[in-house]
Amino acid sequence: MKNLLVTGGAGFIGSNFVKYVLANFDYNVINLDKLTYAGNLENLSDIEKNPKYKFVKADICEEKDVNEILQKYEIDTIINFAAESHVDRSILGSKEFVVTNVLGTQVLLDAAKNLKIEKFLQVSTDEVYGSLPEDKKEIKFTESTSITPSSPYSASKASADMLCHSYFHTHNFPILITRCSNNYGPYQFPEKLIPLMIAKALGGEKLPVYGDGKNIRDWLYVEDHCSGIMTVLEKGKFGEVYNIGGNNEWYNIDIVKLILKRLGKGEEFITYVKDRPGHDRRYAIDSGKIQRELGWKPAHLFEEGIEKTIKWYIENESWWKKVMSGEYQKYFEKNYGNK
Ligand code: NAD
Ligand code: DAU
Repeated sequence: MKNLLVTGGAGFIGSNFVKYVLANFDYNVINLDKLTYAGNLENLSDIEKNPKYKFVKADICEEKDVNEILQKYEIDTIINFAAESHVDRSILGSKEFVVTNVLGTQVLLDAAKNLKIEKFLQVSTDEVYGSLPEDKKEIKFTESTSITPSSPYSASKASADMLCHSYFHTHNFPILITRCSNNYGPYQFPEKLIPLMIAKALGGEKLPVYGDGKNIRDWLYVEDHCSGIMTVLEKGKFGEVYNIGGNNEWYNIDIVKLILKRLGKGEEFITYVKDRPGHDRRYAIDSGKIQRELGWKPAHLFEEGIEKTIKWYIENESWWKKVMSGEYQKYFEKNYGNK
């Protein structure tokens, strides 16, 4: 059986992914996570005793630890989710983003290259492509769209992609890169739009919408991202990039109104706040390549996915209340205090 190292497996997408793989595939899964503010082992409590699963607390930037883990667990496949992932935090301070997202990826790549790992999948993002015009709906991000990241977060993810590409080109290293659009679903940290707005609405607080609320994001249910990653892992061609998305563009303000309506609250809870600096106007993914070449397609309709997600946050209030205490309060003050 293959030994799969998942980095960042205690975060939002990583924890959904670990459970998805254990439920649907035959891999041993080793989850390497530093447990930053975004990593939470509670996300994995239902599978922690699964004999095919193992958690190791470690930092992807620590060369010695990474080498030891790869050897100890006889890893043959790596999927790198570990990252600092929130744009607003990267605007407040970008060092951690460069350290984890760039240096951490380089450490993983070198260790994997030296130990002749069979496959390395880098989980990237559509944000590396920058922003699209709002009024030209026929234009979407394809794999050959130029890389023009706008935030320190997306610049660090783009740098990691470039490093991965260089290892393929120079060392013939077995790289696969996926670039997905905005994910939503259970266990997403409530600093991101959808869980933040659900938590605020449930708590009877104001919902802070940046700028005019007319920025557009292309939403995909997290399990569809997981199935896209597994498709690329099993059928993708080394050196290639695959976009993953669900053809599901929404204005932010319409998502916020939908959440309020579903929770029986009025639009008076909306508050427009100062815009995010450098705010990308529109993201939209063309996922034609993965659909045509690898036969992947999303399984969830947005109506279904958002209902499941809202229900999960209603039923798991203690989860989000806990993660929204402590460090989160300081971040919230810093980010929203001057907006
Ligand atoms: P997240 O912030 O919820 O989780 C990140 C995880 O990485 C956490 O468990 C954290 O503890 C861990 N981590 C951070 N630094 C680490 C380090 N130095 N060593 C080991 N572990 C570390 O992020 P997410 O939203 O689940 O995103 C996962 C990946 O998917 C990221 O690479 C992100 O760029 C990418 N992505 C996210 C989205 C999205 O909509 N959330 C869309 C496309 C791509
Ligand atoms: O596109 C993929 C990316 O999606 C991932 O690579 C990132 O890791 C992930 O964080 C996400 O980035 P965004 O910046 O698009 O997501 P966020 O949830 O932070 O914001 C979504 C939109 O909502 C964006 O236009 C900003 C807006 N927003 C966000 C917050 C937190 C608000 O209006 N108010 C808010 O309080």
